[in-house]
Amino acid sequence: MHLQRIDHVGYAVEDLEAAIAYHADLYGMSVVHRETSVPEGVREALLAVGESYIQLLEPLTDASPVARFMRRNGGPGGHHVGYGVADVAATLDDLKRKDVRVVDDHPRPGSRGCTIAFVHPKAAMGVLIELVEDPSLS
Ligand code: CO
Repeated sequence: MHLQRIDHVGYAVEDLEAAIAYHADLYGMSVVHRETSVPEGVREALLAVGESYIQLLEPLTDASPVARFMRRNGGPGGHHVGYGVADVAATLDDLKRKDVRVVDDHPRPGSRGCTIAFVHPKAAMGVLIELVEDPSLS
């Protein structure tokens, strides 16, 4: 098990453009990547903070997991932490060997060409964890 870095912190937001403007105005952050994922039910923007990112996630529909998260939590807020790893498959196997509860049994494609897998919040003190393998860093 070797976590290399905090790749990103994901925020659930109601209005992506407003959230981007807010972070640009108050914190001077700028957008380095945008993507829409129909399977994930989100429109997202990545804002750079040093070598890490803030990932703003706006639900595409009311059925989106991010929309459900906001209903459950009473609104926008911190949604998940993404840990950078060299090998998502190996890290996932390592966690499963330790009987850690995972959301994704197998690695799958994530945004910006990364390979990802989610680990259940029950396995990280209530925080949803995303393992992120960024091919541009290996
Ligand atoms: Co993420």
